[in-house]
Amino acid sequence: MRRLGILLSGRGSNFQAIANNIAAGRLDAEIAVVISNRESAPGLQIARSLGKTALAIPSRGLDRTLYDQMVLEELHRHTVDLVCLAGYMRLLSAQFIAAFPRRILNIHPSLLPSFPGLDAQRQALEHGVRISGCTVHFVDENLDSGPIILQAAVPVRDHDTVDTLSARILKEEHRIYSEAIAIVLSGKFSVEGRRVRINAQ
Ligand code: GRF
Repeated sequence: MRRLGILLSGRGSNFQAIANNIAAGRLDAEIAVVISNRESAPGLQIARSLGKTALAIPSRGLDRTLYDQMVLEELHRHTVDLVCLAGYMRLLSAQFIAAFPRRILNIHPSLLPSFPGLDAQRQALEHGVRISGCTVHFVDENLDSGPIILQAAVPVRDHDTVDTLSARILKEEHRIYSEAIAIVLSGKFSVEGRRVRINAQ
């Protein structure tokens, strides 16, 4: 089990970090398909430049069930084992989640459950927290919810702006997303309630 399906809506730097780690032999997986709901997503261009199968499936005007069915078809067509949301700006339907039980991951730029939703870095700055970070978690039907696999913390500095804090967090995102994928692909974990227990070798 190691074929990844990447869903993204924008820049694609997390996808690129995963692709780099695979290319460098640090992550034993392959990218089966990259799908975006936005044709103009820079992440799709990156995927194409890397020679990956990259599909735009525009979501505009389609209801969630129908749209998710179309995406699911492509994921199955490319025999995807693990779905990685990487800046994918849509909630998934129950039917989508049921199609990949404990096989959908997301990365979020805060220490969940603090600051779910949009502009997490801005939320953290405005709240005045001294520590923020990022979270990789299993996806369930709620926004930025689901059992947490890995987190990384970064300091929030007095002179931080949304940009400087985001950049510090992003560096950690690029590191822990591949680590979390490796854990899930290894199968060496269990989920008890909300707690993910990672079984060391
Ligand atoms: C990242 O900050 C990620 O945590 C959030 O959306 C952003 C996507 O960035 N879910 P990129 O497209 O991977 O560069």
